Amino acid sequence: MVKVTVPASTANIGPGFDTLGLALSLYNVYSFEEVGEDIVIEGCPEIYNNKDNLVYKSFAYTAEKLGKSIKGLKITMDTQIPVSRGLGSSSACIVGGVYGANAIFKAGLSIDEMFLIAVEIEGHPDNIAPCIYGGLTASIVEKERPYCIQYSISDKLKFCALIPNFETSTIEARKILPKKVAFSDAVFNISRVSVLLKALEIGDLNLIGRALKDKLHQTYRATLIHECAEVSEICCRDGSKAIFISGSGPTLMNIVDNDEFSEKIKSGISKLKHRWEIKELEVDRDGAKVEIT
Ligand code: HSE
Repeated sequence: MVKVTVPASTANIGPGFDTLGLALSLYNVYSFEEVGEDIVIEGCPEIYNNKDNLVYKSFAYTAEKLGKSIKGLKITMDTQIPVSRGLGSSSACIVGGVYGANAIFKAGLSIDEMFLIAVEIEGHPDNIAPCIYGGLTASIVEKERPYCIQYSISDKLKFCALIPNFETSTIEARKILPKKVAFSDAVFNISRVSVLLKALEIGDLNLIGRALKDKLHQTYRATLIHECAEVSEICCRDGSKAIFISGSGPTLMNIVDNDEFSEKIKSGISKLKHRWEIKELEVDRDGAKVEIT
């Protein structure tokens, strides 16, 4: 049996739209077994129990690339990453499927080769890169080929996610963005992302808070997230210096340097109309892992 463990991820991190990503300590585990003659998927809601399942589709895509045919396959899922909340659940499915096929077919693909396949499936690298390599990553795409680099991130930093009980659609969250941006807004983001990377490395929360500001996407997307302003206000009032929309939302992510913050915001957050789960997370530094038993 092949067991693949993949981390959640938060993309963009303020000004790094479609570029930065960070792996977090929340995991999906997918087990793959070649058995019988059917495709059996267990551990997920009934609606995902078919060949449109993204883990299966990514497995099948990789198998086809490898020139392998799938006879019987059982996929068992044990998932912690919430779906459509801006925490990289689709990248986790894709990386799970690609790693699963590589291991089941003993194909010996390198991590970099699996990164290329996973990005081909997903279409953009900002969640795939941290999910595969772990830690803090920055990616570019040139002539349709993705390249990614890892940055250091201080181990003083912790992440407090506010995950609401509603979803947002990434398609809608991209449609709402402007087609053109002002030159000064581009400079605003470029300068901040450059400073942000060093500030994350040294764990300077004051500088991180300043450098997280962005003019390309968050203001537009905030309008799609119910109670976004209220949650931000509670977090800032209770001590957060650094808050951003995780990926395309709706999760809001705080960067903190203490264990008390989650406790402090509990009362304020519990009074809101929607239910917001408060989740303390750390950086995952390893990325996707495979065990073969
Ligand atoms: N960078 C992407 C976005 C992440 O913000 O739309 C979500 O896939």
